[in-house]
Amino acid sequence: MDSLTNSIYLPPLAEPHEREGTSRELEAVLHELINLALIGKQLHWAVVGPWSRPLHLHLDELVASWRDLADTVAERAAALGFVPDGQLQAVAAGSQLTPVPQGPVEDHVVVRELTRRVAEVSERVRARLEPIGQVDLASQDVLIDVVRELEKQQWLLRVQLGEHV
Ligand SMILES: [Fe+2]
Repeated sequence: MDSLTNSIYLPPLAEPHEREGTSRELEAVLHELINLALIGKQLHWAVVGPWSRPLHLHLDELVASWRDLADTVAERAAALGFVPDGQLQAVAAGSQLTPVPQGPVEDHVVVRELTRRVAEVSERVRARLEPIGQVDLASQDVLIDVVRELEKQQWLLRVQLGEHV
C-alpha cells in the first residue's frame, strides 16, 4: 500500500492508514450496491403477476440508480488512492445480502423481498456515517447521498406493501 502512504498528491487525511480504512468502508458499501443491482436485475426477469409490468420497469430504474451510486462510491475510494475490488468474488465475499429465490417470483413477493434488502443496506450504510465522518467528511458526504437515495427507494417500495407513509 505504498501508494496510499507516500504520495503528496493524495487527499490529506490526518493519518495515511485512514485512507485505507476509509476506502475499505467505501468498498464494503460498493459490494452491497453491486449485489443489490444483481438482485434487482434477477427480479426484473423473474417477476410474475398482475403488477409484473410496472415492477419490471421500476426494477430497471432501481438497478440504474444502484449502479450509479456504486460508481460514485468506488470513485471516492479511487480518489483516496485505493482501487476497490468490484469483481464477482469480492462482492460475494463482501455482501451480506441473501439471494432471492430461483424461478418466477410473484409481484407482491418481489416488493417485499426488495423492501427488506434495501432497508438492510441503507441501515448498514447509515451505521457507517458517524465513524467515517470522524475521519473524512467528503467520504461521509458520498455515503449520505447513498442513504438518502436508498431511504427514498425504501419509502416508495414500502407504500406498495400498503404500509403507512
Ligand atoms: Fe430488461
